[in-house]
Parts: sequence; C-alpha cells; structure tokens
Amino acid sequence: MPALLTPPLSLYVHFPWCVRKCPYCDFNSYTLQGELAADPYVARLERDLEAQAGDVAGREVVSVFFGGGTPSLFPPAAIARVLGAARRHLALAPVAEVTLEANPGAIERGAFREYRAAGVTRVSLGAQSFDAKILAALGRIHSPDETRRAAGELHAAGLTNFNLDLMYALPGQDRAGALADVDAALALAPAHLSHYQLTLEPGTVFAARPPPLPDEDEAAAMLEACASRLAAAGFAHYEVSAYARPGRQCRHNLNYWTFGDYLGVGAGAHGKLTFPERGAIVRTVQPREPRRYLAAAPGELTRKPVSAVELPFEFMLNALRLTAGFALDTFVARTGLPRSGIAATLERLLARGLLDRTPDGYRPSDLGLRFLNDLLVDFMPESPEMSGAFALSIAPAAGSQGRLRPLFTGAESVVGE
Ligand SMILES: C[S@@+](CC[C@H](N)C(=O)[O-])C[C@H]1O[C@@H](n2cnc3c(N)ncnc32)[C@H](O)[C@@H]1O
Ligand code: SF4
Repeated sequence: MPALLTPPLSLYVHFPWCVRKCPYCDFNSYTLQGELAADPYVARLERDLEAQAGDVAGREVVSVFFGGGTPSLFPPAAIARVLGAARRHLALAPVAEVTLEANPGAIERGAFREYRAAGVTRVSLGAQSFDAKILAALGRIHSPDETRRAAGELHAAGLTNFNLDLMYALPGQDRAGALADVDAALALAPAHLSHYQLTLEPGTVFAARPPPLPDEDEAAAMLEACASRLAAAGFAHYEVSAYARPGRQCRHNLNYWTFGDYLGVGAGAHGKLTFPERGAIVRTVQPREPRRYLAAAPGELTRKPVSAVELPFEFMLNALRLTAGFALDTFVARTGLPRSGIAATLERLLARGLLDRTPDGYRPSDLGLRFLNDLLVDFMPESPEMSGAFALSIAPAAGSQGRLRPLFTGAESVVGE
C-alpha cells in the first residue's frame, strides 16, 4: 500500500449565534435570545481545545478560522482568549492565517483594530448584496452603507486582507443587478471575493416559501458576466465560488480543498484527522445544539473513520472544486490509496470532457466545473454507508459549493466562505 502522509493542520472554531436567523440559511446558527453569554462558551471552547490537543501533538497549526453563525458577536477579548488557548494547547504557527467572519450589522465601531490586536489577520465580511431592497428580502440586518463602513474600518485597521461574501441569483435580481453588486464590492478593494448562487436549502424559510428567483439560465449568465468582471479586475477564479487577488487565496479553505486536516471546535463543528501510523483518517463531529455542546464533557464527540471505499469521493469532493485541480501525488499521500484505483474513472471523465490533464494530475474542465456533480458522481462508492442521494445532497450543487460542507454529516458548513 502507498504511504499515508500527515497533511497540514488547520483549526476551525464555530460560533453558533446570529442577531437574527436569515431565511435562506441552513448553517448551524441560531437567533440569539437575550444577552450573549460569551464567557461560558469561550470557557467550553478552551476545554475543547485542551481535550483534542492530544490528537495532534507536535503538529503545527497553519490556519485558524472563526466561523459561524456570527463570530463578530463575540468581543475581541473573547477571540483573544480562544487564540490564547490555541497557543497554549497547540503548536500555532507564528505566521498562521487567522480569519474572523463578521456580519456588517453585528460589528462594533472600531472593533476591527482590537480583533487585529487579538491576533486576527484576515476578515470575511458577509455583504451578500449592495441593493437595499434585496438585503431586506434576504432578511439581512444591515444596509449597503453599513457594509461600506465596515470595509472602510477594515482598511483603517490595517486588515486589508479581507473577503466579501456576495450572493447572486437573488430575489428579483437581473444580470445588471448582479454585476452592480460585483462592482460595488470591488469598489471596497477587498483581497478576496466569494460569490455564491443563492440556493434553497431544505428546512429553511425560503425552501418552504420560495421568493421569485431568476431561472438557471439567468443564473448561469450572471455567473459568467460576474466572473469576467472579476477577472478584468485582477481576481483569479481559483475555486468554484472563490476569487482572489494574487497571493490572497484563503489558506484555510485551500487546506480543506487539498484534503488537509482540521480540528473542529465549538457547537456542531467538524474535524478531519489523519493518523498515518494507524493508516486511519477520522472525521469528528461535536454536538450540534449549543445547549448540548455546552453540557457535553470536553472530548465527547463523535468519531467516524473514513473507509477506503469512501476516500476517493471525499478527496474529489474537495479537490475538484479547485480550478487547478489536484496532483496525483497528493491523492496518494492524503488518502493512502494507489493511483490505479481511480485511473479508469479519470480516463472516462477525460473522454467526456469533464476533466483536463495537468502536468502532475487533473483539473476540472470549464464544463466539469459547471457540472461538478456529474463529475463527482463517478467517484461515489456503491456502499450502504454513503447512498447516492445522501452523498450528493451534501456535494457541491451548482453555486453553493463555496460554503464548505464536510462529508458524512450533511450538517452545517464548517466554514463560512
Ligand atoms: C456564516 S455566513 C457569513 C458570516 C455571517 N454569518 C453573515 O452572514 O454575514 C457564510 C456565507 O454563506 C453564504 N450563504 C449562506 N446561506 C446561503 C445559501 N442558502 N445560498 C448561498 N449562499 C449562502 C452567505 O454568503 C454567507 O455570507
Ligand atoms: S447567513 Fe450568516 S447571519 Fe444569516 S443566519 Fe446564516 S450565519 Fe447567521
């Protein structure tokens, strides 16, 4: 058998509360009732970190992502405490990328300076749209001007490495409206832009009562127009839903997409850890509801080994989101499987025009990127552990891919962008 190698390690920390639940959102997030009890939650995160540290002893943590929910509801001192615990219990790289998700309607004036002082190096701001009517239809708690103000404060605080989340194919939106949103976002000089097609997620208010949305052809035209606008502005399209200026790709998300490891801390957080000495890759899940998470003993999480039969699909579900695709050596090192196991599938997908060859591996063709599910379905194992419907319901459907959904849970995205 080829050797399974230890991949880079990241840390994801989940904050499950929002000022108000958005009607389209199926993340593990809850409307905050009353005052935020930041201290007990942070204390629980600290114990969680301590309890899981043994699993990653001696390994360097290359990135941290504070996602939600709305982590910016937590004051800078709370974020500083969590980072302090991460430094105490883990080997946090001195140059680690540390991202904080923020909602423009849930950020104190001047707070970005303090987040930066606490150790945050990158911010991801949920702009969604710059059309006030559309923001209202989305149930957002902020205006376009509040997003502009937040971006101005990021620049003033020296946090120029920030991402803006935009959605498209929004209620009542046309192509010109989608382009106007991209232009408005570019005017704020972000380093990175995540551009998601609004998807109707089961169990959400929008799924029960869908607003009038552009059809798939209109959505595809919006995507194409916006992608060209972003390319012209110097943003490289490096993942299905992600665009970045040179050198500003999200290192944390890249680690997911290259099938790296991550510790998952906080309510409903997911982790993935590789243990080469045992030849095992294990997924972890924390109790989902905040109350259950708070009540659970540290270290009380679900662990599920990923079987060899699931691994090619799991790897591809991540790697084929990247426009650069993957190197075959990375496939072997991160799954411990031989190339021969996927050779026939790769040939078939090449012949169908869904994949292109690269010097060291494969990447999705333009067609493959557009119809990613068709590509991925070929790697799906015929096994009861992962029935087709289940696996694809959490696989990246057109447009929603950027919101990372770790496999086997069907639960909330572990990270926001
Ligand atoms: C955790 S949120 C970002 C931070 C903060 N909670 C906020 O909304 O401002 C992650 C991002 O996922 C995207 N998103 C959430 N639900 C979506 C859906 N149903 N379809 C497409 N994108 C969605 C939004 O762009 C959102 O900003
Ligand atoms: S989109 Fe963001 S703010 Fe809205 S409910 Fe989801 S996590 Fe909360």
